[in-house]
Amino acid sequence: MSEEEIAPIRSLKALRGAEDACTRCPLYRNATQAVPGIGAARASIMLVGEQPGDQEDQQGKPFVGPAGRVLAEALEAAGISRDECFATNAVKHFKFETRGKRRLHKRPGAYEIDRCHIWLDTEIALVRPKLIVAMGATAVRSVCGKPLAIGKIRGHAIALPDARRMLATVHPSYILRIRDDDDRHAQFRAFVADLKAGARLTNRAA
Ligand code: URA
Repeated sequence: MSEEEIAPIRSLKALRGAEDACTRCPLYRNATQAVPGIGAARASIMLVGEQPGDQEDQQGKPFVGPAGRVLAEALEAAGISRDECFATNAVKHFKFETRGKRRLHKRPGAYEIDRCHIWLDTEIALVRPKLIVAMGATAVRSVCGKPLAIGKIRGHAIALPDARRMLATVHPSYILRIRDDDDRHAQFRAFVADLKAGARLTNRAA
C-alpha cells in the first residue's frame, strides 16, 4: 500500500489489514508477515519495542520470543498486568540477514523507522494510552521523531506533542545480552524500576 492510498483507519482490525498490505519499505519482501501490535484496545500503557524477532515473525505476534519472556517477567515484577498494556514495535516487519539456515536480527535504519512510523502513530491514535514506554533507541527514535540518548532521559516522563507522554527505558534484549550475572540482575531490576515509574505515571498503584 503506498502513502497516497492510506485512508483514515478507525479500528485496530482495519489497521492490522493495512499493516499486512504495507510495501512502504522493502522489509515486507523477506519477512513472513507484518507483526501488528497486540493488547487491550484501551490500554493505559503502550509498550514499544524495536521490531519483531524471528519467532514474532513466524507467529505474527510481538514479544513471544526470548525478549518477550524478559518483558513478561519484568511486567510481573513491576505488578503490571499484560492486560493493561498494548505491546507493539516501531517497525512491523522483521529485518534480518541469513547465515546458513539462521536468520540473524539486523537493526532497522532511520529510513525503515520513518516509513513505518505511520502505523505506530495510528496505533497510538486508536488506543490513546496514558503513557508510551519506549524500550530502546529505535522505539525512542520512532516515538520522538529524532534520536535521543536513553541514558539521559531514562525513567522520566517526557511530554510529547498531542498531549502524549513517553518514558524511555532499555530494550529487554539488552538485558538478555549481558553475560555477567550480577550486572544482568542489576539491569533487570533497573528495568523493573522504570516500568514501576511508568505505572505510577498512569495513576495506578505499582
Ligand atoms: N524485540 C522487539 O523489539 N520486539 C519484539 O516483538 C520482539 C523482540
